[in-house]
Amino acid sequence: MNISGATALVTGANRGIGLHLAAQLVERGAKVYATARRPESIDLDGVEILGLDITDPGGVAAAAQAAGDVDLLVNNAGIGGAALLGDLAGVRATMDVNFWGTLSMVRAFAPVLARNGGGAIVNIASSASWFVFPGSSAYAVSKAAVWSMSSALRQELAGQGTLVTSVHLGAADTDMMKGYDVPKMPPADVARAALDGVEAGAFEVVVDEFTAMVKASLSKDPREFDRQFQQFLNPAKPR
Ligand SMILES: NC(=O)c1ccc[n+]([C@@H]2O[C@H](COP(=O)([O-])OP(=O)(O)OC[C@H]3O[C@@H](n4cnc5c(N)ncnc54)[C@H](OP(=O)(O)O)[C@@H]3O)[C@@H](O)[C@H]2O)c1
Repeated sequence: MNISGATALVTGANRGIGLHLAAQLVERGAKVYATARRPESIDLDGVEILGLDITDPGGVAAAAQAAGDVDLLVNNAGIGGAALLGDLAGVRATMDVNFWGTLSMVRAFAPVLARNGGGAIVNIASSASWFVFPGSSAYAVSKAAVWSMSSALRQELAGQGTLVTSVHLGAADTDMMKGYDVPKMPPADVARAALDGVEAGAFEVVVDEFTAMVKASLSKDPREFDRQFQQFLNPAKPR
C-alpha cells in the first residue's frame, strides 16, 4: 500500500494517537479526512475535517457518502476503562465503541474501498488483545474482538484486495493512559509503526517489546505470564 497519493480517513483524529496518524499521513503525501465527534476540536492543517461519532449509524453512512474516494480506513477511535463485573453500562459502551463502532465503519467503507481498488484497513487494537490489565477487562475483551475481527475481515475482504492490518501496542502517552503510572511511549512512535506496517503490507504490527512479550506468552502456560505480570506490577514483591 502506497500512502503517498492515497486517500485516508482517520477516526478520533482530534487527539492522542489519531492526531499523530492524521498528521503523519499528511506528511507521507496522503489526502486525509480527519474525523472526530467534535469536528471543532481538530487542530491540524492540510486535512479535510468531518464530524463523526462511530456509534452513530447515520453518521457513519454519511461519512462513507462524503468520503467516497477513501482507500485507507484507519479505525483509531476507542475508549478505555470498565471491568466486566463493574457497571454494565460501561461494559456495553466499551463494546459499542471499540467493537461495534469499528465494525460499523468497516461495513460502511468496505464497498468504498472495493470501488477504489481494494486499499487497506488499519485497526488500532492493543496489547490488551492478548492480556488483561486489572480494572479494564471489558477493554481487553473488546480489543481481543478487534484482533479476531481483523483476522476475519482479512479473509472476507481478500476477494476485493483489501489489506487488513491490526496494530498492537502497550502504553502510549495519551489521555487514555493519564491515570496509569507506567512507562509510556510517545504516540507519534505508534503512528509511525502503524503506517510503516501498512506500507509494508503487514497483517499485524506489534509496536513495542512489552507487546511482543505478551504475544509470545500465549504459546506458554498462562501461569508463567501471570507471574511475570505480577512482578511487573509489584516489582518490590519477592517472586
Ligand atoms: N494509549 C494507549 O496506551 C493505548 C494502548 C493500546 C491501544 N490504544 C488504542 O489506541 C486508540 C487511540 O487511543 P488514544 O490512546 O489516542 O486515546 P485518547 O487520547 O483517549 O483518544 C481516543 C480518541 O477516540 C475518540 N473517540 C472515542 N469514542 C468515539 C466515538 N464514539 N466516535 C468517534 N471517536 C471516538 C476520542 O474522541 P473524543 O475527543 O470525542 O473523546 C479520541 O479522539 C484507541 O483505539 C485505543 O484503544 C491506546
